Formats: sequence, C-alpha cells, structure tokens
Amino acid sequence: MIHSNVHAFQWNADTQCLEVIDQLALPDIERFVSLKTVADVADAITGMLVRGAPAIGIVAAYGIYYSARKYWDEPNKLELIQRDKNTLAETRPTAVNLFWALERMMHCVNAHIADRTPDAILAEAKNIWDEDLAMNLALSEHGADEIGNVRNILTHCNAGALATGGLGTALGVIRAIDARKKAKGESLHVWVDETRPYLQGARLTSWELMKDDIDCTLITDNMSAYLMKQGLVDAIVLGADRIAANYDVANKIGTYALAILANYHHIPFYSAAPTSTFDPSIQTGNDIVIEERSDREVVFVKGNRIAPENVKVRHPAFDVTPHELITGIITPNGVIRPNQA
Ligand code: MRU
Repeated sequence: MIHSNVHAFQWNADTQCLEVIDQLALPDIERFVSLKTVADVADAITGMLVRGAPAIGIVAAYGIYYSARKYWDEPNKLELIQRDKNTLAETRPTAVNLFWALERMMHCVNAHIADRTPDAILAEAKNIWDEDLAMNLALSEHGADEIGNVRNILTHCNAGALATGGLGTALGVIRAIDARKKAKGESLHVWVDETRPYLQGARLTSWELMKDDIDCTLITDNMSAYLMKQGLVDAIVLGADRIAANYDVANKIGTYALAILANYHHIPFYSAAPTSTFDPSIQTGNDIVIEERSDREVVFVKGNRIAPENVKVRHPAFDVTPHELITGIITPNGVIRPNQA
C-alpha cells in the first residue's frame, strides 16, 4: 500500500471547518488555514491557496456544505445555496473537477432538501474527498504496472497529494513505482520541472517528493530537451485539468511543449487523472476555456520585479495537448491509449 506524509486538507471536528495547507507559504512555512465560509473557500481557490484540479473540486464541495448549513432553515434556501454555487463556479475556469463537484453537491442538496439538517450534504463532500483518494490509489497501481521499470521520470507542475484528496495522480504513480522499486532495493529518480511562472514544480513538487524521501532533481523548464537528448528521461507523467471526449488533455502551461519533445525523442508520455477530470460534453481540446492569469505572476518572482516596468505580458495558465501525442491516460480503471483511438 503506498502512502504519503503530505496532506492538503484536514477536517477539524471541533470547529466543524475544513483546514487546508497554505500552498502560497510552501515550501518555507507549513501551516494550515481554516476555511470558515463560502467566501473563504472562493478566495482560497482564486488566490491559489488551494490548487490542483481535484483539490479545487473537493474544497468547493465543502463550500456548498457551508452554504447549506448557513441557510438550511431559510424558506428560500435552494435559491441562496444556488447563488453561492455560482460564486464558487466563477473562481477558476479550466479544471472541470470544480464544476463536476459543484453539480454533484447541488444534486445532493436537491435530493435532501426536505431533511431536518444538512448532514447529508457534509457526508457528500466527504464522499468526494474519499473517492478521489481511492481513485488515486487505483490509478497509481495501474501506472506502476504500465511503466514500473523506468529509472528516470519527468513530471511537470504539481499533480501530487497537495493537488488532490491524497497521494496525487502523477505523483501517485511515481509513489507506487518508487515503493515497488524500494521493495527490491532499487530506487526511482524524478526530474521536477520548475513550472514557470507559478513554480508549482520548484515550490511544491520537489518539497512533496523530498517529504516522502523520493529521489528528485529540480530543473528549469527549458532543460528538459537537453536531458531527453542525453537519454536521461525514460517517461513523462503529469496530471490533467480537463480531458475532452477525444482525449485531448488540458494541463499546466508547458505540457504541450513537453509532449512534442517526448514525441520527437520517442519517450512515452502519460497523463494521470481521476474520472472527475473527464469532460465528455466537450468534443475536442479546442473548446476548453484556458485561464489567463495576472501579469504580475510573470513579471514578479517572490515580490521582485524581473522585467522592465510596464512590459507587455501574456499569461495563459494552461495549454492543450492533442491526443495523438499522448501514449496513455492512466485512470482508476486502467490505461486509455488516446493515440490509438
Ligand atoms: O494552476 P494549478 O496549479 O491549479 O494547475 C494544476 C495543474 O495543472 C495540475 O497538473 C492538474 O490540476 C492536475 S492535479 C492532480
């Protein structure tokens, strides 16, 4: 059984609030922040205190519970909860897990609208969290079955315990491979892309892997082609924010470039995702909304300006990798082969 020392959330039974690890403070400060209201949840998602597609969905589900417990005795509670759902849906546009979780929670609210208490709504939020962890466990083992013999894996962004209900998707696969190797007295090595501009790789993934004693080396994003040419990358595994019906994958900006490089160097390229990341309502990746984030995140690093004042900036936070460049999508139900579809 694989495990991780890293956890993104904890439920505080005394305060009846979800506490989330502050991903803005990592890796220097490890602190949990209590989310008490729908506004706290919305701000945590928009401000990237919580990030990663499944994690956003889980936290938003608790947001619906907060709304339900606030308004449960109001005659127009459905309308009021729907209004909070709309607020939560406006936080970030690309990861489909957010909308999936909100729809599922509203379905639960409707089904239990006549209940005396909103306990069933809290139970559903916990189900979403538990199911995500179970899916990660399952997909991690499928991933290890698929590419368990690799020595060097490259990953991008953070698709780990911090980004999910636990273990992670890409980092779940990495944890499972590492555990199997360690059982044989071997070890896995992970190349961690720093992931400009938000530095999820540098700040979060390297911290998470080091916490679990998994051998890793940090590189800047522009170093991967060189390493591939040297034969130092055996496979690439990363996450997904939304997968279209034709298996095009939206993920962190830079994913598409890695897929092209992998294809050129004949390196297997995998995305790992729970079922909540699939969006069959979207035919191709061209229809996926790509979030544009603030110029500041490109121009400033840790408060220091690194480019001329007033320079023009673009900041698309995600890109779409066409399915023909993807060797496999590792899911809880096995590996899908998009380039053979
Ligand atoms: O902008 P972020 O940090 O929320 O982007 C995260 C990613 O792109 C992850 O790869 C994706 O959400 C999968 S997390 C299991």
